[in-house]
Amino acid sequence: MKPIAVGLVGVAGYTGMELCRLLAGHPRMELVKATSRSEAGKLLADVLPHLGCTKLAGLTITAPDMDELAANCDLVFLAVPHGTAMDMAAELVAKNVCVVDLSADFRLRDPQVYVQWYNLKHRHADLLAQAVYGLPELYHHDIAQAKLVANPGCYPTSVILALAPALNNGLAEADGIVADSKSGATGAGRKPSTATMFCEMHDSFRAYNLGHHRHTPEMEQEAGRLAQVQINLSFNPHILPLGRGILSTVYTRLARSVNAQEVLAIYSDFYAMHGAALGASWVRVLPLGTWPETRNVRGTMFCDLGILVDPRTNRLIIVSAIDNLCRGASGQALANANLMLGLAPELGLSAAPMVP
Ligand SMILES: NC(=O)c1ccc[n+]([C@@H]2O[C@H](COP(=O)([O-])OP(=O)(O)OC[C@H]3O[C@@H](n4cnc5c(N)ncnc54)[C@H](OP(=O)(O)O)[C@@H]3O)[C@@H](O)[C@H]2O)c1
Repeated sequence: MKPIAVGLVGVAGYTGMELCRLLAGHPRMELVKATSRSEAGKLLADVLPHLGCTKLAGLTITAPDMDELAANCDLVFLAVPHGTAMDMAAELVAKNVCVVDLSADFRLRDPQVYVQWYNLKHRHADLLAQAVYGLPELYHHDIAQAKLVANPGCYPTSVILALAPALNNGLAEADGIVADSKSGATGAGRKPSTATMFCEMHDSFRAYNLGHHRHTPEMEQEAGRLAQVQINLSFNPHILPLGRGILSTVYTRLARSVNAQEVLAIYSDFYAMHGAALGASWVRVLPLGTWPETRNVRGTMFCDLGILVDPRTNRLIIVSAIDNLCRGASGQALANANLMLGLAPELGLSAAPMVP
């Protein structure tokens, strides 16, 4: 069968590298164009030596050129910063090319909310109505029809998957939700910064952007859709001295009297049903008393959820673990691309987690 030609803008960044790792083992997609302004002209194997033994090794990296991408690719992944992706996406979609945008440019349905949180006017707000939020468990039908998919943020993926069954089933109050998340340093991208230098991170642990992180409105948008009421939640991120991984602890108030077994059954049924409809069972609801660990999901699409019903404080607490680069970015982008191209969602995504 003829391979499906795909392109990637931002090959030298962390999510671009992760996409290459996954595409190197994909049975149907062929990466025919990989772009970077800083690495143009070099062989992919020289820029990403860990992929030197794969079918991508001989690909020459080029400078980003939307005409060239459109002429050669059926689908393009945009692994570039927000604000940059929107013009590229608009140009590619106008040329009838499918786009999976890993940035935040098309995630928020209201362009005013985008201006408020990103301090940037949306230059292609007309495309927001056709952009589909790429969380496969919730939106796979729409993703399969989409030309433009807004790949979710890493923190929102972990928090929305933790909240979805509770909000959808009226288990949790819409008010007073707190998401306390911890991420490895790859979440900040590969561009060097003092904050992510080894000596600033190693053997320490800190909070940042409390109360005003840009992923907050994305979580509120999707949580509000699930609960069918407006939600304001408190999102508080932290950075861990790890490479990959996000662990989110999400605190909610119980909306009704339920025991832990009932909540476990609701969560398990919700993801069994959505997983069966999607054709991939990536959300694993752990037995009561078992807690997710980032290493158990490393390099995969898995999202592990642990549940606590605490009658003493009237809280339902959900702990969620994902790999920020795979489930929180490039793996999810590949799953969305599979769906857009009519392929099985799990294609190229079934390797076991890397432990230890
Ligand atoms: N890191 C994560 O865990 C994560 C998770 C979810 C979503 N995301 C999102 O995914 C996107 C990429 O993130 P990342 O972590 O991979 O970032 P990164 O490591 O900083 O890489 C970004 C890449 O984009 C390219 N780039 C930057 N400005 C560009 C421009 N004006 N035109 C063309 N290319 C440009 C850069 O390559 P050149 O300078 O060589 O062109 C660079 O390789 C971001 O929007 C980010 O918010 C990241």
